[in-house]
Amino acid sequence: MKLLVFLGTVRDSTPPKPARLGARVSAAALDCLSSQYSEHEVELIDALDYPPEPVFKPHFAYAKGRAPSRLDELAQKIDDADGFIMISPEYNHSMSPALANLLNHFGSSLFAYKPSAIVTYSAGQWGGMRAAVAMRTFLSELGCLPVSAMIHVPKAQEVFAQDSRLQEGEEKNSWYKYFGRTFNQLIWWAQAAKTQRTELDPHQMIGNFTKQPSERNAP
Ligand SMILES: Cc1cc2nc3c(=O)[nH]c(=O)nc-3n(C[C@H](O)[C@H](O)[C@H](O)COP(=O)(O)O)c2cc1C
Repeated sequence: MKLLVFLGTVRDSTPPKPARLGARVSAAALDCLSSQYSEHEVELIDALDYPPEPVFKPHFAYAKGRAPSRLDELAQKIDDADGFIMISPEYNHSMSPALANLLNHFGSSLFAYKPSAIVTYSAGQWGGMRAAVAMRTFLSELGCLPVSAMIHVPKAQEVFAQDSRLQEGEEKNSWYKYFGRTFNQLIWWAQAAKTQRTELDPHQMIGNFTKQPSERNAP
């Protein structure tokens, strides 16, 4: 399976401390995937590498072949992927606006009929739970339905050190087993969806709306 791991933090400064805690979480997720799921192709998409333009213009707003090459390349990666892992901090009980902004650049037809997994974290005690609940709605609308298991890392700075290694007293096996429940669900669904996409092209069968979301309205 081809999996894209989106990292949604672009905060590279304090306060509050620590900054870019998400880099520790994504490093752990990537380490878990490379050590326990090495048969799958995994690529990190870091929102920091896609700074927002002053005026929002999504990939699908450009005439074919006229979008900036970085957007075109990412659109192709999303199209080629079989599943997505979305890693987000919680800001004011919501998902990262940088992650939402990056994902908003691409039409749902690129994400649809492939599963996603939600990973949230925070410096506080709830591990981004409130952001995660809202992410379910967001990702469902994109068509990459989130699997039921989710990963939440409360007080992530107490779990992962600055070099992303587990802090003393934290059990790698326990954390990777916890991650694995979500990743196993994701891979199961990704494989099932891939098989079914080859059997029956959902874009042909269901049809993507091409001009207006109202194309799917009730009569
Ligand atoms: C604008 C802002 C809002 C925040 N809101 C929350 C919140 O609602 N819940 C929470 O647990 N932590 C919240 N925090 C603290 C973050 O969990 C903490 O700063 C964490 O390091 C963010 O991840 P990042 O460093 O990868 O950006 C907030 C931080 C910022 C900067």
